[in-house]
Amino acid sequence: MKIAETIREVREQVKKWRQEGLSVGLVPTMGYLHEGHKSLIDRAVQENDRVVVSVFVNPMQFGPKEDLASYPRDLKRDAAICEEAGAALVFHPEPEEMYHDDFSSYVDMNTLTGGLCGKSRPIHFRGVCTVVAKLFHIVTPDRAYFGQKDAQQLAVIRHMVNDLNFGIEIVGCPIIREKDGLAKSSRNTYLDAQERQAALVLSRALKEGRRRMDEGETDAGNIIQAITEIIESEPLAKIDYVEVVDWNTLEPVSEIQDAVLVAIAVYIGKTRLIDNFIVSE
Ligand code: PAF
Repeated sequence: MKIAETIREVREQVKKWRQEGLSVGLVPTMGYLHEGHKSLIDRAVQENDRVVVSVFVNPMQFGPKEDLASYPRDLKRDAAICEEAGAALVFHPEPEEMYHDDFSSYVDMNTLTGGLCGKSRPIHFRGVCTVVAKLFHIVTPDRAYFGQKDAQQLAVIRHMVNDLNFGIEIVGCPIIREKDGLAKSSRNTYLDAQERQAALVLSRALKEGRRRMDEGETDAGNIIQAITEIIESEPLAKIDYVEVVDWNTLEPVSEIQDAVLVAIAVYIGKTRLIDNFIVSE
């Protein structure tokens, strides 16, 4: 497995693969890989001849008060995970390689990005769309893999690919959880032992929401209330949002009829965690 730091190296490698008629999958990540990422790489390895994993903590998607500086990084460990999983190339550029001094072009989206995480992270999705569009141009994959844990991101990327005719298949992959239910996230490393225990309230609350829907509850307000009550019973938790939205438009719904995304963002201490489930019928 190779590690490339420049766009030129990636392009040369992909060109060679294309000349050999090989298909290419891309797994975009910000590194500090966990089993959630590993499941994306595994799927990509199954479905493509060659897999590129990008490891880039993208400054453009972090707000001024967010955790860009403290975001965990460990390229050696990430590279070992990628190699073991069967990736062919890790792309690990420096920020200057991705954003030259007079960089001034962005991919911005007028729909899907204003609600949910976009409310408290107003510049986040512009940064995500811009870097993912750049990665798509650099790697030109046949397929790209994203986790459902960032469900809004998955919807936004699908929309961008459709709007801008990237001709890339976007593969959404299920949330991977710890044994006790906590959704895997690089940010879980910020939690101390007490917060780690408190963080279980996210999956517990969603499970209750899901149970009520399975029992036939269709009033979104009642689902939100049930989830909110459970989260509020945890003293270390502070709700950013609890929402039930249409899975296609990401607009809030009051009556659950079509596919919906039930999504939450909760601060446990200073750490903001997200989790969700999708009901598709
Ligand atoms: O989901 C992430 O890790 C990031 O938002 C992504 C897609 C790699 C873009 O920086």
